[in-house]
Amino acid sequence: MKVLLVAGARPNFMKIASIIDAIHAHNQQSTAPLEYVLVHTGQHYDEKMSHSFFRDLGIPKPAVDLGVGSGSHAVQTAEIMKRFEPVVVKEQPDVVLVVGDVNSTIACTLVASKLEYPGGNRLGRRRPLLAHVEAGLRSGDRTMPEEINRILTDALSDLHFTTEPDAQEHLIREGIAKSRIHFVGNTMVDTLLKHRRHAEQSRILDQLGLAKTQGGENQPDALIRSASLKARAYAVVTLHRPSNVDHPEAFREILEALTAVGTHLPIIFPVHPRTQARIREFGLGAQIAFADVGTETPVGQSGIRCIEPQGYLDFLCLTSNATLVLTDSGGIQEETTVLGVPCVTLRENTERPVTITHGTNVLVGTKKSHIIDGGLKKLHDRGPHRVPELWDGHAGERIIRILSQYAA
Ligand code: UD1
Repeated sequence: MKVLLVAGARPNFMKIASIIDAIHAHNQQSTAPLEYVLVHTGQHYDEKMSHSFFRDLGIPKPAVDLGVGSGSHAVQTAEIMKRFEPVVVKEQPDVVLVVGDVNSTIACTLVASKLEYPGGNRLGRRRPLLAHVEAGLRSGDRTMPEEINRILTDALSDLHFTTEPDAQEHLIREGIAKSRIHFVGNTMVDTLLKHRRHAEQSRILDQLGLAKTQGGENQPDALIRSASLKARAYAVVTLHRPSNVDHPEAFREILEALTAVGTHLPIIFPVHPRTQARIREFGLGAQIAFADVGTETPVGQSGIRCIEPQGYLDFLCLTSNATLVLTDSGGIQEETTVLGVPCVTLRENTERPVTITHGTNVLVGTKKSHIIDGGLKKLHDRGPHRVPELWDGHAGERIIRILSQYAA
């Protein structure tokens, strides 16, 4: 059986890495190996957003790189569709597997769902089976481009692999047959658990001057203790949602809140390219300092420290050892839940409620006072947490076991 795997943007790479690992493991044991073709759409394309992830995670070089690059939603989606269609026609896969909720996910789903192999492919299929990994997540917020991508991808998919129980309820409500839904766990967590120890060898804490040294625990706020044996207390921030960074007033308010939290402990802010562009455009640079990773954060210094986006292992080391994470990312809500690191989400909703009911996550919205209150509360009260069901490092294997049943 031939499976065509689609990866396009940064959060896809961790999920695809788990699937590829599981295919390799399956092929070592099985008399019916799975052939795979990895297609990179090129939605994310540079060293920091793409190449370093392939290296860190040991993902093989894609067989096809569509090289679409950036653009408006319509341009990017259309360009991926135009370039993806001939690849599917040529490869005639039995399965097209997409992950997550980015523009590459919906663009490739739409192409594969309408395709027809003249006369059928080798297994006699008229079109590829469509599998969606991370199906059924819903924020209920249709102003989020990702919510549109999720709804449409699920509507067109044949197989729905879910990460949390709520997802099945959403899918059934939207008319998906229960027999097509498989609760398998979380491929992003597979990758985190696999690389966690390796990430501890990252030099990023030393480079940022955050590693614990004699007398290195003097924080501006004596009550804030580092949760990590290796590092001083610090927070990590990530922001890239258009709703947070594309509007100058909203973005300014968030930065003011972070500045207030940053009087209690240093904040490390790896800045997404979209966010960097908005900082320049809105003239917000005065509030935050960009620095090379090699510049130390002096003991006792607080404030927001901006750095370039980090590779997978360095970023995992940063979040694992953080006292607090403030984010608007979906994946980071999940990663902090598994790591047991308090997470404050700067959004009004989440498509990943299990990170709140089981994990360390709290939604605070984007109002200045709410971010400050939520951040400071989490600094002092970590609260209990549990790892969600099936977030055990084996989601990729479950997916491949189910897919291989279709090989006959
Ligand atoms: C995309 C996804 C979002 C995901 C995020 C992770 C959609 C609709 N959005 O948003 O769900 O959480 O990726 O990062 O698919 N850029 C670079 N280098 C790159 C890629 C982008 O510098 O390799 C810059 C470009 O200036 C681009 C901007 O980043 O315009 C935004 O990239 P884009 O892919 O449009 O959306 P993201 O905000 O990254």
